[in-house]
Amino acid sequence: MVLYAIKGDFIWTEDPSSFKYSADSYLIVQDGRFLKFSSSCPDCPILDYSGHLIIPGLSDLHLHAPQYAFMGLYMDDELLKWLDEHTFPEEAKYRDLSYAEKAYSIFVSDLLKTPTSRLSVFGTIHTDATLMLINKLESAGFSGYCGKVNMDRNSPPFLTESTSESIEETYRYLESCRTVNMKPIVTPRFIPSCSDELLSELGRIAVKYVLPVQSHLDENLSEIEWVKSLMPEAESYTDAYLRMGLIGKTPSIMAHAVWVTDDEIPILRNSGTFIAHSPSSNYNLSSGIAPVRKLLSEGVNTGLGTDVAGGSSLSILSVVRDAIAVSKLRWRLVDDSFKPLTLSEAFYMASKGGGSFFGKTGSFEEGYDADFSVLDESDIATPLSVSLSLPERLEIYISRSSEKAVKAKSIKGKIVHCSHQKE
Ligand code: GUN
Ligand code: FE
Repeated sequence: MVLYAIKGDFIWTEDPSSFKYSADSYLIVQDGRFLKFSSSCPDCPILDYSGHLIIPGLSDLHLHAPQYAFMGLYMDDELLKWLDEHTFPEEAKYRDLSYAEKAYSIFVSDLLKTPTSRLSVFGTIHTDATLMLINKLESAGFSGYCGKVNMDRNSPPFLTESTSESIEETYRYLESCRTVNMKPIVTPRFIPSCSDELLSELGRIAVKYVLPVQSHLDENLSEIEWVKSLMPEAESYTDAYLRMGLIGKTPSIMAHAVWVTDDEIPILRNSGTFIAHSPSSNYNLSSGIAPVRKLLSEGVNTGLGTDVAGGSSLSILSVVRDAIAVSKLRWRLVDDSFKPLTLSEAFYMASKGGGSFFGKTGSFEEGYDADFSVLDESDIATPLSVSLSLPERLEIYISRSSEKAVKAKSIKGKIVHCSHQKE
C-alpha cells in the first residue's frame, strides 16, 4: 500500500452549485486515490504545498495536438476556409515523423505545465505520427484518449485516404496501441470529410473494439448546410451520426453543438453523448455561442474543450473564463431565458462534470483518482491577497494569471510535473 498526504489550500466542486474548500489541510492519498481530509498531521510522508491553492485534475474534452504549432495564428476566417487554408496544410506535415517528433514533444511538454490531467485529443490521419503522440502522452503520465483521424472525402489530396486505406490504418492504429492510461478513440473528423461507407464501418469498429467515438457537431452554419446536402435523408446533424452508429452505441464526445436544435437535444441526452463546449474556438472562428445552460438544464452531459487551435489557449482554465464570458453575451443578446454560467458551474464542467467521461476524476471525494494541480499564483500581485477567500483566489487566478501555470501536477497519484525544488 502506498500512502502519503498532500498539504495545502484545497478547492473543488462536488456539484455545479457551489465550491467546497478546505484551507491548510491534509488530503490523504492511498494507492493513487484520494482517501480523506485530515486537519491534523497524519503519520505518513507529506507533500508540503502549504499556502498554495490546490485544485482537482481538469479534463480537456476536445483538442487537436497537431494544430498546437499554429495556435494563436490565422483567426480571421470561418471554419471551412480556416480548415482548407491553414489547418489541412499544417496537418499534412505529420506524414514526416521528424516534424511530428519535434511538434508533439513541444505539445506534450507544454500541456504538462497546465492543470489538464485528462484529455481526448485528435492526431492526424497519419497512423505512425498518432502512435508517436499517444506514446508521448502515456510516457508523460497523461490519461485519456487519442485518436487517429479518418478523412476519405472533400479534403485536399495531400490529406485524404482512400476508404479502404482509412479502415485498414484504423485497424493498424488500434492493434499497435500498447498504452495503458492513454487509450485509442474512433475519430471521424466530421461528416463532410468521411463517406457513409467509412462512417458506418467506424461505427462497427467502435462496437467491435468497445471504443468511444469523438467528432464535431453543429459548429458552423455553412458546415451544417453542407452536412444536409451530403446526407439529405438525415433529419439533423445529430441524426446523421446516429444513423452511422457513431452515437448511442458506445460513449461519444461531440465538439461544439453551437447550433444544436430542440430535436437533437433528446437524442444527445438519451445517448449519453458528451458535448465538448469550446467557447474560445467558437468566437475565434465566428461560429457562434453554444446554448450551454440549455444543454445542461436538459440533462445533456457537457464539459469543456480548448479545441486548440480553433481555441487559442492550451489552458482549460482560460476556457472556464471564456465559457462564463460568452454565456453572459448569449443571455444579454440572444436568449434571456437562460442565465449566464457561474464560476462554480464552469469550474465543475472543467473538473468533475467533463471528467466523468473518463471515470472518477475531477473531485477530492473519497475514491477519486489522485489527480490534482498546485497552482502558481506568483504572477498575481495585489495587496488584497492576504485577505482573499479560497474561491476568490481561484477566481483571480483564472481571470488574472497570465501564465496559468502550475507548480506541480499529479495524475493518478503520480507527480508528472514539478516546476520547483520541493519547499
Ligand atoms: N471540424 C472539422 N475539423 C475541425 C477542426 O480541426 N477544428 C474545428 N474547430 N472544427 C473542425
Ligand atoms: Fe475541433
